[in-house]
Amino acid sequence: MSASATEAVAIARAILDGKAGHLPPIDLLNIGVSTMAPLPDALGALLEKASLGCVAHLEEINLVGEADDDRLRRVLDLCESLSPRWIQEDLGIWVWKGGALGAHMIPPILDEKSLDEATRIVGRILSASRWPFLAENPPFYCVLGDMDLLSFMAKLARRTGCGLVLDIGHFIGYCACSAKEPLSYLDTFTGWDDVVEVHLAGYTMTDTSRGTLWEDAHEVDIPPLGLTVLDRVLAFARNVKAITIEVEGARLDVLRSNVIRVAERVQAVAAHA
Ligand SMILES: [Fe+2]
Repeated sequence: MSASATEAVAIARAILDGKAGHLPPIDLLNIGVSTMAPLPDALGALLEKASLGCVAHLEEINLVGEADDDRLRRVLDLCESLSPRWIQEDLGIWVWKGGALGAHMIPPILDEKSLDEATRIVGRILSASRWPFLAENPPFYCVLGDMDLLSFMAKLARRTGCGLVLDIGHFIGYCACSAKEPLSYLDTFTGWDDVVEVHLAGYTMTDTSRGTLWEDAHEVDIPPLGLTVLDRVLAFARNVKAITIEVEGARLDVLRSNVIRVAERVQAVAAHA
């Protein structure tokens, strides 16, 4: 489950106090790590006490554009207290002219130049980090470049040795932007063995006079297409170690129903394996 550092503290405390009965079972927290919001001192110890694993989702490291080794060093230092199983970041530009863009991060132009930049920066991250690094497909609201997303990701993993996060909501958004049919497009992917984590969240799709508009919406139910894509992903991606359900802003009943529906899909795939 995705969580801010503050939410992670609350979840760990609820588990330790025996008050987590209202929460679905959680093995792993995907925690946002940023130099703009330092982590609570006690977080690492609390997670350990509550037997909660975690992964660190960086939120300010450009994977294309200008590299910033000093910022990377400071973010990696923050991760030390968490002992994450791995770290991850969405492909794109997170810092522009020294200012952090946060949720307004810019996805990459999908071309050879961006792939070269991402290859160089991910190589630097892998050298500087003592944890594995996964690159995630970011949210797309428009698509630029002459390369398709899945080719870009497969090539990046092959060139650098990094792992991949496949965010299913973001992937469906990319497909809406680029007029691709998600299931048949997935069949072209050559990077399945590099996918270590899958993200799932709600989103909205709105028909407009110029096509379908996709928007991320972590507070709503995961739509049926998201679960259908999950089935296909689980059938092909044999090295997945975690499925993160992104739930920021969701009511508890929505959170629970998303967890239950995803767990049912995973169990059904496991039963047929
Ligand atoms: Fe994600």
